[in-house]
Amino acid sequence: MANKTILVTGSNGQLGSELKDAFANKSVNIIYTDVQELDITNKEAVRNFIRVNSINLVINCAAYTAVDRAEDEPQISDLINHIAVDYIASALKEVNGKLIHISTDYVFNGKASSPYHEGDLTSPIGVYGKTKLAGEQAVLASGCDCIIIRTSWLYSVYGANFVKTIMRFARERGELKVIADQVGSPTNARDLARAIVTIVQSQKWESGIYHYSNEGVCSWYDFAKAIVDIANIKCKVNACTTAEYPTKAVRPPYSVFEKTKIKSIHGIEVPYWRDSLIDCIAVLNK
Ligand SMILES: NC(=O)c1ccc[n+]([C@@H]2O[C@H](COP(=O)([O-])OP(=O)(O)OC[C@H]3O[C@@H](n4cnc5c(N)ncnc54)[C@H](OP(=O)(O)O)[C@@H]3O)[C@@H](O)[C@H]2O)c1
Repeated sequence: MANKTILVTGSNGQLGSELKDAFANKSVNIIYTDVQELDITNKEAVRNFIRVNSINLVINCAAYTAVDRAEDEPQISDLINHIAVDYIASALKEVNGKLIHISTDYVFNGKASSPYHEGDLTSPIGVYGKTKLAGEQAVLASGCDCIIIRTSWLYSVYGANFVKTIMRFARERGELKVIADQVGSPTNARDLARAIVTIVQSQKWESGIYHYSNEGVCSWYDFAKAIVDIANIKCKVNACTTAEYPTKAVRPPYSVFEKTKIKSIHGIEVPYWRDSLIDCIAVLNK
């Protein structure tokens, strides 16, 4: 670690903020930027920043994450999730640097009935997933030494997310309708950040694609019900179908990861989703 200088991009987002906490008591040279300090869509700025600051590892948390809005803004989504990722990977390749890039379960179409392995066929069904997949492909094509971590259903004490939205709506409305026919694995960004710290601090670096989410599987309905119960909010949560709650972007109905690779190579222990949700809500309720 002593000779590494790390750059975290998009560091004001959920994962970036959790990385600040996770690295806080570690002895690392680390620079945190968001769009104000380093706009990753500015190719020369990215290249210069990496050179001037002697960066040899980038953890790219910057992304266009508005899944529905992406359907109306495919170009900006592609610029941030794909083209800019290529800028980072290509700049790192020039200086023999490494990249940890974050991707998504939305690279899959969700038609599987057993957990997705890293090598399974990708087939995104919306603009966000398509641009994130293009970003992965650009990283791999750049020849830069990279680890791509796909994650799912991310939430955190930081930023806007499903947990906070459900808590707010539950308090305001007293009754909610939530989709029960899409299943996946909620992921506390704190746990993903800790997994990234483990990878960065380990002597082992095996490039390639990895899957990381919390353990367990639930529907959005189960997730919402758990949020309301754990937060102790009086609210009736009703189950509905995707057809009853149409959104601009179609979402994969099944988003579950096989995570053996990250666990076995990096010795990472993955918390169960409900336990991590309890931790998050405990902080939010303080
Ligand atoms: N959220 C999820 O449910 C989820 C699920 C699966 C995978 N992921 C992936 O996980 C990663 C982290 O997600 P997250 O939830 O932490 O995202 P987030 O909270 O939306 O944070 C992304 C950050 O990137 C910044 N950003 C946007 N454009 C930028 C640019 N041109 N240059 C530099 N920074 C820029 C954003 O700033 P603004 O807010 O000002 O735009 C924001 O601070 C992303 O790669 C995402 O695709 C997320």
